[in-house]
Amino acid sequence: MPSIFRDHLLKDKVAFVTGGGSGINLRIAERFAEHGAKIALVGRTQDKLDQASATIQAGGGTAAGYVADVRDYQAIESALKKTREGFGEIDILLCGAAGNFPAAALGMSSNGFKSVIDIDLLGTFNTCRAAYEHLRKPGASIVSISATHAFIPFAMQSHVCAAKAGVDMLTRTLAVEWGKAGVRVNSIAPGPIAETEGMRRLSPTEEIKQKLARSIPLQRFGSKDEIADLALFLCSDAAAYITGAVYVCDGGQSLLGSGGFMSALVQG
Ligand code: COA
Repeated sequence: MPSIFRDHLLKDKVAFVTGGGSGINLRIAERFAEHGAKIALVGRTQDKLDQASATIQAGGGTAAGYVADVRDYQAIESALKKTREGFGEIDILLCGAAGNFPAAALGMSSNGFKSVIDIDLLGTFNTCRAAYEHLRKPGASIVSISATHAFIPFAMQSHVCAAKAGVDMLTRTLAVEWGKAGVRVNSIAPGPIAETEGMRRLSPTEEIKQKLARSIPLQRFGSKDEIADLALFLCSDAAAYITGAVYVCDGGQSLLGSGGFMSALVQG
């Protein structure tokens, strides 16, 4: 797992990572652990969390998994409490839990739309709101994983577009409200990232993969490591004066809107 950073940027910090059992969030958790942070992984399935914790421990890091659904405020409160008891004061919150399925607005029920809003937007609010009492100190940092869907429309993704736009405005508003306590609040909006569940579903063949890659200005998908390095930067002292920012990391894809990418997909 290559990183552009070499030092222990998060030495003795404690990070609480929702959706940390797999994908981009797990890679971020691994990167935080490589830089000295103790990691609480939070998700819906204990087995998955245990496997993810074992991966971090095998790399020499410290990690534990706590089951909680971000839609359940009390479950998140309880996971935060266990984290503090197990590892000490919490310094970093990574809100990564998200849900997605491709469906046209007319192809999903009110409950289908609500389920993604509840996981992505309400879940991020719940986690930030519950974590505030742990985080209210200078040096604390919150990073939420958004998406370029927050500011460009993607067909078949009305629920995700609406939810992620909400996540980014939540980021900016909490940055304003919590700045005086010393808590920084930022978002990352990844574009197409290789070896994620989403991209596996979108590009099942090498041909589609290559066509999609050619529709991106940098001509390739991003890597989980590139998102992990950005999250590491945002949670480190190197970003001490950055709050309320939404960092786009997408190889330039969103500069073209969703049209080029979607037509590569349809013609793929
Ligand atoms: N098309 C249309 N509607 C769908 C759907 C699809 N592909 N998949 C789920 N839904 C609807 C369901 O029909 C249900 O609505 P209904 O009650 O009116 O029938 C609603 O969404 C909730 O489904 P359910 O499976 O009960 O929700 P859940 O809370 O268990 O799961 C999801 C949440 C729907 C987001 C599910 O896809 C999920 O768990 N995803 C987690 C993993 C993931 O998405 N990772 C990618 C992150 S980017």
